[in-house]
Amino acid sequence: MESNQLLSVAEEFGCPLYVYDAAKIQSQYNRLTNAFAKVEKLQINYAVKALSNLSVLKLLKKMGSGLDTVSIQEVQLGLHAGFSPERIIYTPNGVSLDEIEEAAALGVQINIDNLSILEQFGAKHPQTPVCIRINPHVMAGGNSNISVGHIDSKFGISIHQLPHILRIVENTKMRINGIHMHTGSDILDIEVFLYASEILFDTAKHFTDLEFIDFGSGFKVPYKKGDIETNIEELGRKLTKRFLAFEKEYGRPLTLAFEPGKFLVSEAGYFLAKVNVVKQTTSTVFAGIDSGFNHLIRPMLYGSEHYIENISHPKGKERFYSVVGYICETDTFATNRRITEIKEGDILSFRNAGAYCFTMASNYNSRFKPAEVLWMDGKAHLIRKRETMEDILRNQVEIEI
Ligand SMILES: Cc1ncc(COP(=O)(O)O)c(C=O)c1O
Repeated sequence: MESNQLLSVAEEFGCPLYVYDAAKIQSQYNRLTNAFAKVEKLQINYAVKALSNLSVLKLLKKMGSGLDTVSIQEVQLGLHAGFSPERIIYTPNGVSLDEIEEAAALGVQINIDNLSILEQFGAKHPQTPVCIRINPHVMAGGNSNISVGHIDSKFGISIHQLPHILRIVENTKMRINGIHMHTGSDILDIEVFLYASEILFDTAKHFTDLEFIDFGSGFKVPYKKGDIETNIEELGRKLTKRFLAFEKEYGRPLTLAFEPGKFLVSEAGYFLAKVNVVKQTTSTVFAGIDSGFNHLIRPMLYGSEHYIENISHPKGKERFYSVVGYICETDTFATNRRITEIKEGDILSFRNAGAYCFTMASNYNSRFKPAEVLWMDGKAHLIRKRETMEDILRNQVEIEI
């Protein structure tokens, strides 16, 4: 989106504010489906955890997407948004058997990632089709928080435990209809991803009832000009070729599934915040904004570097600023960043604010969560109201003291 469009949205709805560009979500969706156009049965299941606003879910539904969910609440949100249960895959980690049974009762595709639950679920519900999440032990990229396929990761059933999986399947007579992996976010090298895919193909051969193979996600998107990104087009060419060959070997057509979050929504999002104070110390110029890690925690949690622009004065002279929040803890968004000259009252725009931003927001310091706006067909639509004091008080139970 252009700076002047963002500025007008900030003027209309106030700051802090999340703005999502529907056209960018559509173009990313098209990019992915075009890259795999030669696959007859392609299924994109958007990862709800990235950005779970109902209007965004409905937008993705209209594009033809299914959903990847990790909690029973995300399943319920997806159903509420109008997705049919068959278009929802449920891939939890560390949840109880009860929650998995609850999701299965709703008719969504179950994906199990540990032997204990696999055995218990198989014994009780042998007729319910189940997908198995394999951990191929491949480190595809990213830092230790977002890379989940490595040997020490808690996610998935280790590929070394395949004999154990097969024994459970044989004993319970359960039906395995899918094989899944998710190696983690920020895939830098597609060859590593393809290597992990070979492990998945080898595993798939052991199951005769498969309907789909789910390759997860983790596609890296650029945060600034020149940044490395996953080459989706090249991955599309190489994986399609291999997948079509595997289908022949397997003897039946299968669905190729992905579950992207970041790839679809990261670049579509902008976080807009107002500069409350410009504070010059002996060593630094701070720009203090009307937000903090209660609204955007990724820089502090993952060290992610969101590109920051002064959209009130985009053409000014550049200076160095440390952009900080108003939380009573150190909450630094950027250190000594080159930004056009900032005056108090200016609006800063943070890029790549679509994925894992609003969904990680909290009420820390008893602050309200920001409003959300969807920019669609040249118009701004409010899709979540800014919170009020009522929201802060809603579930508190006041007792006589
Ligand atoms: C199981 C699973 N699938 C998909 C995703 C989406 O990953 P990304 O946002 O990198 O596309 C995640 C992210 O954590 C995940 O845990």
